[in-house]
Amino acid sequence: MSLRLGDTAPDFEAETTEGTINFHDWIGDGWAVLFSHPADFTPVCTTELGETAKLKEQFAKRNCKVIAVSVDSVEDHKAWVGDIDETQGCAVNFPIIGDTDRHVSETYDMLHPGEGDTSTVRSVFVIDANKKIRMTLTYPKSAGRNFDEILRVIDSIQLTDGYKVATPVNWKDGEDVIIVPSLSDEEAKEHFPDGWKTLKPYLRVTKQPNR
Ligand code: BEZ
Repeated sequence: MSLRLGDTAPDFEAETTEGTINFHDWIGDGWAVLFSHPADFTPVCTTELGETAKLKEQFAKRNCKVIAVSVDSVEDHKAWVGDIDETQGCAVNFPIIGDTDRHVSETYDMLHPGEGDTSTVRSVFVIDANKKIRMTLTYPKSAGRNFDEILRVIDSIQLTDGYKVATPVNWKDGEDVIIVPSLSDEEAKEHFPDGWKTLKPYLRVTKQPNR
């Protein structure tokens, strides 16, 4: 059975480019993004890992670590990272799991034989400080992911964990948000003393509360 939102992210021990890790210990008290790529020494993956390295500070601002995984060996990962630095202009600054026995890939259902072979597809798991899975996505091998979107979703989850709001289509940090429909207007007055705009009884727009 595949992993679902709200499930505890399975723990594991793995070899990585930064040594052996226990996943839950490595996550610590913060958030984590675990993402798979199909194979080392491939073009789209090279761009994705370079972009992720460039976004390290952005992930850190959200108290979030990043870790990559593929079924290639740690030796292959180490040989490949030089290419990423050379072509993408940023050294890889996060661990890459060498999942040669496919334990992580199978546990997280990252192997999709329909996608051509037994390498991992482009999966992403956002895991919160309680080790719960809060977002998953799976892209085909041919489509590089948008890592700004992953940051955007983390912003949304972290905001909506703390306030009775949801974020609308294409929302970005700092933009107006929606008051959750479960809150009555009476209750909303306590939570949003500066008010809101009612477009429909179920669609009430207010300023982002933590700004
Ligand atoms: C790539 O990363 O470029 C890639 C990997 C596997 C299949 C297709 C493309």
